[in-house]
Amino acid sequence: MSTALAVFVVQQEFSDASWKKSAPVIVNENGATIYLSANEGENLRKVQKAGRQLDNLGIASVQLSGEGWDFERQWAFANGYTDTRSKNKLQWASNAEALSQTRNIVNWTRELINLPPADIYPESLAKRVAEKLESIAPDQVSSKVIMGDDLKQEGWMGIHTVGRASKHAPCMLVLDYNPTNNADAEVDTVLIGKGITFDSGGYSLKSSEGMLAMKCDMGGAATVAGALALAVEQGLQKRVQLVLCCAENLVDGTAYKLGDVITYKNGTTVEVVNTDAEGRLVLADGLLYAGETGAKRIIDAATLTGAAQVAVGNEYNALFSVDDELANKALSTAAAQRENLWRLPLQPWHKENTPSAFADCANSRPQKGGGSGGASNAAGFLLRFAPRDGQGWLHFDIAGAYHNSANAMWATGATALGVRTIAALLND
Ligand code: BES
Ligand code: MN
Ligand code: ZN
Repeated sequence: MSTALAVFVVQQEFSDASWKKSAPVIVNENGATIYLSANEGENLRKVQKAGRQLDNLGIASVQLSGEGWDFERQWAFANGYTDTRSKNKLQWASNAEALSQTRNIVNWTRELINLPPADIYPESLAKRVAEKLESIAPDQVSSKVIMGDDLKQEGWMGIHTVGRASKHAPCMLVLDYNPTNNADAEVDTVLIGKGITFDSGGYSLKSSEGMLAMKCDMGGAATVAGALALAVEQGLQKRVQLVLCCAENLVDGTAYKLGDVITYKNGTTVEVVNTDAEGRLVLADGLLYAGETGAKRIIDAATLTGAAQVAVGNEYNALFSVDDELANKALSTAAAQRENLWRLPLQPWHKENTPSAFADCANSRPQKGGGSGGASNAAGFLLRFAPRDGQGWLHFDIAGAYHNSANAMWATGATALGVRTIAALLND
């Protein structure tokens, strides 16, 4: 007898009076069966729910069996059939190599995000990411980590300011993937990740409930790192750099305070009106670095605002860009990769939405959650630091991609939504 539960998909009307019509999957002596309709979008949701239900039943091992399992159906099942601790065993029906590759990288990403802040602090985050990419392409990857006071020396003031109050020093990882054999090859894309390994809010302290999930605040860093890893495994032939802006947003006697003014490398001054709007402060350094490389494209990912999560919910990432052509490319790529992505407003004038009397701008509006349009205003702040007035730049606000509790589709914790889309954009 097989030790794995066989799971089938069938394209037919379901007729088993002992199960409710709403059941995404029925289980009997032959195994588990998912009944599909003509609408493939609904089918994929159903298959993912079926995976989730089998996990909830305590099924430890499954074998996708029979006809009808294309790549996306298997992937949808895998997303549902994932327990938070990645212990489930899944055997594919077809496309095993590509599916395993994607699942291994996505699981790596999820596990990294789900690890506690005692294990993942700025230096360990940078190290784990560098080791992962070096293990995939040892001859094409080089990296350096700028730590602690060296950040100040080199002018990376956002990361230094946000992270200096922690016992774990802040750092910037700069990783170069160059498959061209030409050390001077142009950089195609710079990926930037928000790597706040824990966000207490700083002196604008979060509530206990608001703080509980804040180990997820390096999700952007993990997502762009996972995307690069996947793209490289898929054969990426372009030079790409990865910049992770890593810090712990904590309080002590040296922490940054409300009213402090940060002067960035490019001369821009920023008044801190809320120490909990720290993500944009560290990402500004990443954008300034990206500008220095002259890269054609810049993609950042960040768990940046609760406002984005409120706007698009937990099943979507939010996209911001002033480059319509590139934004449309990202949306069509996400659709092809079956990842939900929704564009929210960003106009050049959003730059003016966080004014300050004491500096060029503030890091937020001095209102709860940044006030109305908070996700767009955060993106508008970032736009001040993007080269070429934001042409070639995409900003993914992935605040909804971490789930505080399981639902019908996803296990508790990180989903790694966005990894496939960003990998596909790199390989485009
Ligand atoms: N890391 C949070 C955003 C967040 C919230 C991510 C919930 C995931 C789930 C970010 O640093 C933050 O605190 N944002 C503030 C900004 C505000 C102070 C302008 C927010 O969204 O409230
Ligand atoms: Mn914050
Ligand atoms: Zn944060």
